[in-house]
Amino acid sequence: MEIVADGKKSRVLSGMRPTGRLHIGHYFGALQNWVRLQNDPAYECFYFIADWHALTSDYADTSEVAENTLQIMIDYLAAGLDPERNRCVIFQQSLVPEHAELHLLLSMVTPLGWLERVPTYKEALENVKDKDLHNYGFLGYPILQCADIVIYSKVGAPLFVPVGEDQVSHVEASREIVHSFNEFYGFEVSPELFTTSNKPSLLHAFKALDEPLKVDWKIWETQVLDENQRLELVQRLKKIRREIGTKNFFEKVGHPANFFSATERLVEPDVMLTKTPRIPGLDGRKMSKSYGNTITLSETDEEIRKKTKVMVTDPARKRRTDPGNPDVCPVYDWHKLFSADEPGRLEWVRQGCTTAGIGCIECKAAMAENLIKWIAPVRERRVRYEKNPKRVLEILDEGSKSARAVAQGTMERVREAVFGWKRKRKEIAGDGKQAAGGE
Ligand code: TRP
Ligand code: SF4
Repeated sequence: MEIVADGKKSRVLSGMRPTGRLHIGHYFGALQNWVRLQNDPAYECFYFIADWHALTSDYADTSEVAENTLQIMIDYLAAGLDPERNRCVIFQQSLVPEHAELHLLLSMVTPLGWLERVPTYKEALENVKDKDLHNYGFLGYPILQCADIVIYSKVGAPLFVPVGEDQVSHVEASREIVHSFNEFYGFEVSPELFTTSNKPSLLHAFKALDEPLKVDWKIWETQVLDENQRLELVQRLKKIRREIGTKNFFEKVGHPANFFSATERLVEPDVMLTKTPRIPGLDGRKMSKSYGNTITLSETDEEIRKKTKVMVTDPARKRRTDPGNPDVCPVYDWHKLFSADEPGRLEWVRQGCTTAGIGCIECKAAMAENLIKWIAPVRERRVRYEKNPKRVLEILDEGSKSARAVAQGTMERVREAVFGWKRKRKEIAGDGKQAAGGE
């Protein structure tokens, strides 16, 4: 896909770990929103499969990661993501190795405490007993996630991450990490500050910051400060700025402020929460593969009928003659998603349930039929792509190529902000020319 280089579009990025087939919980928790965003011309959307992140828990047995990646890609396409018509870019994380490079650079400016405090990290360490998560990769999970997101920064445009509640703390960590990165590598001191004519500004700035200048004045009367002296002063200014923060720095420094600039190197991302209410699993708990309470996007009609028949209902409605309360019943939550378009159906449920006019069996059956209608086109697309895995991989490879081009652009800017090699090389090339010209 060609990336439109207009200044207005917001960027959107999100992804999932390839740990198994996607289910309707994923659809209503994320995919539905992703589809909406790809169809909105205000957004440029990137969706990906986080196969490196799958390794953080599955590193001991990687036998399923590749197949799961293919299956998730098919699920994405079945759900309606449409990279073939350039609505979005879909890519595979490990095919864009620049994510790993940015992860490394970001890791330098991320204090350990931030990672240890991420709630999902603490919870997983306490709860996950069948895997050893005491490793560096798992601790660094949020840094890699941050790299995934902000490598698609377009400076000056917002960057949104449409995810569920469970990912909020990761996006928040990303904001902190990016903030820190920008503080370290986005602050610049203009060389102009050290010219003889701007000496008053330099004096003023150091005085305002309560920092002794400590330079040999006699030298400066006759010539401009040399490279080492300038570097030393810049380092001290940067150190002060780090200590007191950019905002304070600018406030304190006074009128020479125009010799300093704070550039946004990477964009602090914003979470975009899915508005759909969470869809509970068949047993009323959170829908999750590990609970075996899901309906996958490829479920057959028969399986849907069978599974929903034994769905948990209002626990207080024990007998057919007891009135029930739809507001505490998972079946009603599902009705709201699948039966909303059928005239009168939701009223039929509420009325029948609260008066014991209908039984749970018929209530579930009506819901199941609507779920089947809803899933049919998704499943059809799924089957179509499943039959043509070569084409699926082609789409994923193409998407990864386009994503990589964007990521490489970001990394060029990032490397320059960190190391300044372009500047350095120019300097060296320039000196070389001068020397050659002097001969
Ligand atoms: N942590 C996410 C999950 O478990 C997956 C993920 C990795 C992600 N990198 C991301 C999500 C970047 C959004 C943006 O579902
Ligand atoms: Fe739930 Fe429907 Fe039974 Fe009421 S009638 S408790 S809404 S399944």
